[in-house]
Amino acid sequence: MESIDTATGLSAPKSISTDRVRDIFSAIAKRYERFNACSSLGAYKGWLRLMSEVADIEPTDVVLDVAGGTGDVAFTMAEKFHPQRVICTDLVPEMLEVAKEHRRRGRGAGVDMDFAVADGQALPFEDGSFDAVTMAYGLRNMPCREQALSEVMRVLTPGGSFTCLDFSTPHNALWNAAYEVYLTHMVPLWGKIITGDDSGFRYLADSIEAFPDQAGVAALLTNAGFAHVAWFDCTGGIAAIHVATKPIS
Ligand SMILES: C[S@@+](CC[C@H](N)C(=O)[O-])C[C@H]1O[C@@H](n2cnc3c(N)ncnc32)[C@H](O)[C@@H]1O
Repeated sequence: MESIDTATGLSAPKSISTDRVRDIFSAIAKRYERFNACSSLGAYKGWLRLMSEVADIEPTDVVLDVAGGTGDVAFTMAEKFHPQRVICTDLVPEMLEVAKEHRRRGRGAGVDMDFAVADGQALPFEDGSFDAVTMAYGLRNMPCREQALSEVMRVLTPGGSFTCLDFSTPHNALWNAAYEVYLTHMVPLWGKIITGDDSGFRYLADSIEAFPDQAGVAALLTNAGFAHVAWFDCTGGIAAIHVATKPIS
């Protein structure tokens, strides 16, 4: 399957993007949440709340969070739905260490949870192991997106749900222009203030610009075989939450 450079969207060896995200997220793991809160001006919490409102998760479900980072999505789903079990995975161990620290401090509402280092493009789980899969800001960072979606499809049970949040494209031209200025100038500045280095945050802006818009992500999901593909815009399309289902047969 095709691999791209996630900063440009152009064809490139997988290792370029994988090595870069490893470097960025291992270095910023302890400051990631502060950066997120500041650079999104707090909006990411509202997007996460909407994600939990549209996610199709039942108390009997076993849930997988891919690219789970410091655990925000996994903990939110555990606390809201009290599912049978939640597994939070990420490529970068340093991000998961922060998630485990949150767990030790009581997050997760006592739900059975586990944490595992795993590449979203090669998930170490049996076929049909999960009733629901979630992913926030993960697909954009993966150079083999078709492979990642095929892995989500493989590990879901038939009828299982996939909920995917990521940055997207505002529809209104003025809003889009303002957003682009914020993204290319303010986000690297936040990065420099909070982490002392702006290079990873220039990558964030580039990867968002190179990422498909709402219809483009929906097409990726449809091409991967998902059914009932739909999306919800957040803050005028700055982000979007895609929902999809693994067909029953
Ligand atoms: C912007 S963070 C999002 C973390 C978390 N989902 C959240 O909402 O805060 C992106 C995460 O994707 C992870 N990631 C990037 N490429 C990955 C891959 N191929 N497989 C699994 N995780 C990956 C990074 O390590 C990082 O933790």
